[in-house]
Amino acid sequence: MKHIDIADVLHKSELIGTEAVVCGWVRTYRDSSAVAFLELADGTSFARLQVVVDKNAVSLDAECTKCGASVCVRGEVVKAFRGDGAELNAREVKLLGKCPNDYPIQKKRTSLEFLRTIPHLRLRTNTFTAVFRVRSVAAQAIHRYFHDRRYYYINTPLITASDCEGAGEMFRVTTQPWNAKYEREDAYFKEDFFGQKAGLSVSGQLEGEVAATALGRIYTFGPSFRAENSNTTRHLAEFWHVEPEIAFAELPDVMEIAEDMIKTVIRTVMAECPEEMDFFEKFMEPGLKAKLSNVVESEFGVLDYTDAIELLKKADVSFQYPVEWGCDLQTEHEKYITEHVFKKPVFVINYPKEIKSFYMKQNADGKTVAATDLLVPGIGEIIGGSEREADPEKLLAAMKARGMDLSAYRQYLDLRTFGTVPHGGFGLGFERFVMYVTGMENIRDVTLFPRSVKNIM
Ligand code: 4AD
Ligand code: MG
Repeated sequence: MKHIDIADVLHKSELIGTEAVVCGWVRTYRDSSAVAFLELADGTSFARLQVVVDKNAVSLDAECTKCGASVCVRGEVVKAFRGDGAELNAREVKLLGKCPNDYPIQKKRTSLEFLRTIPHLRLRTNTFTAVFRVRSVAAQAIHRYFHDRRYYYINTPLITASDCEGAGEMFRVTTQPWNAKYEREDAYFKEDFFGQKAGLSVSGQLEGEVAATALGRIYTFGPSFRAENSNTTRHLAEFWHVEPEIAFAELPDVMEIAEDMIKTVIRTVMAECPEEMDFFEKFMEPGLKAKLSNVVESEFGVLDYTDAIELLKKADVSFQYPVEWGCDLQTEHEKYITEHVFKKPVFVINYPKEIKSFYMKQNADGKTVAATDLLVPGIGEIIGGSEREADPEKLLAAMKARGMDLSAYRQYLDLRTFGTVPHGGFGLGFERFVMYVTGMENIRDVTLFPRSVKNIM
């Protein structure tokens, strides 16, 4: 259908005085004896287009006035009666699709909980169109950030036989019938599609390292899967993962890149989505724009894990989980560090090796690894990264200490055998990042169809 976007009608002043055809969904309808007003949305802009219908000159089907109906309007673009921008004086209003009165998305604001029960329709609200425009702009900005700096975009396999994080959170991939009966596990997997145990990848890092040790700098941007039994506002079973991997890089380089990327992408979102950001500021997180400006302008904090433990022990707060050197930081600890102490993003570095993954570079103290988590106020961890262990002997020892099946990692070990280099990278949870920039408080509200424990709508 030949038509133009509402975003163009609203913002391109050269269209004033011309005839235009727009298509969209009716959001509101008002009416007086002589004139009717339809507000249309077509997804291209946060602001809607006001269509003015002279009832004496243009026939208006009653179905076209219902919230949710889809219509096609031909009319003259005129300067808006109020404010800047434009509106459309209708010459013809055609019904495309009726929308009965039980349409669940009505004018009044509905709760996010209710909207989660209708994931296929919730996108038609202001909140969700704004979230998904921001999500798209942020994704493009991430690609641009890496492309402009000569990182190559690679696509790593989603089905894998090796578990990157070693946390036992892999979904199994199988074609075995439900009643298959075997004496032993290996016999069972031998009969399976791949002839061995396979699962959905929790991270593209291991294959990312393969590519980085040939192409220099790479990044992945794709889904990762985790069968974590955590029903929280920050965990999904399927999330999008941004994972750059850089050859000839040490931990400080990795942190510098992470900080620069976060700041660059936030700047782009603020510049390209001003109306959406105003909306989130008003309805989701008062102070959001000042928070993000502060992030862009200030330097992220850096805190050694050992100092973090000291700081938490001295804190005048009773934590649910006690703190001791060697413990994993819980969300309550992460929030205390970022929200009460730093009030900005903080890199926590040099974690005890026992609580981190096998591939992380072992520090000279023999106790810690060159790992970093980026914690932000309101959410906690949004990035996990590290320098990788480049020494084949040390890597092998770390894998053996964890009782890993070395046969699944032969290729990974080869990277250290043949021309090993210092290298590192990080993983950004894309949904958590979108939460951070929009102020949305539940990860289920920044992804189209959230998958989480006992939920696959
Ligand atoms: O800290 P993680 O587990 O690190 C890795 O997977 C590394 N292999 C990354 C790398 O160095 N290339 O995960 C990275 C990030 C987390 O900081 C978090 O933001 C996000 O991925 N994440 C999740 N997001 C939503 N739901 C989940 N279940 C997530 N698990 C991790
Ligand atoms: Mg992590």
